[in-house]
Amino acid sequence: MNIAQTPHKLHILVCTNARHDGTPSCGDSGEAQRVFETLKARLKEAKLPVRVSRTGCLGPCAQGPNVMCYAQDGTPGVWLQGVGEGDVPEIEAKVRSLLNTPSQGE
Ligand code: FES
Repeated sequence: MNIAQTPHKLHILVCTNARHDGTPSCGDSGEAQRVFETLKARLKEAKLPVRVSRTGCLGPCAQGPNVMCYAQDGTPGVWLQGVGEGDVPEIEAKVRSLLNTPSQGE
């Protein structure tokens, strides 16, 4: 096993899990996938040192779609619940506050 330093300061996990068995899951509609795609593209364009990944179940399914942000420096992460594509600008602002990186024009 090799242990390497991650180049990302923050890892953002977007649950896109879909169960298809009638129990609530973040992937029940296409919203979680849209959040993932829009957020990933937006943060990539902003060149922030973060990684956005799709993930399976994070646990609190009924409150989804769920997004969890974990800072690599030990700063307490945040858990965003009931997220929709329209929340992406607010998520970016939260990410910037966690990174202490103001957006251009601030
Ligand atoms: S399905 Fe997303 S948290 Fe469980």
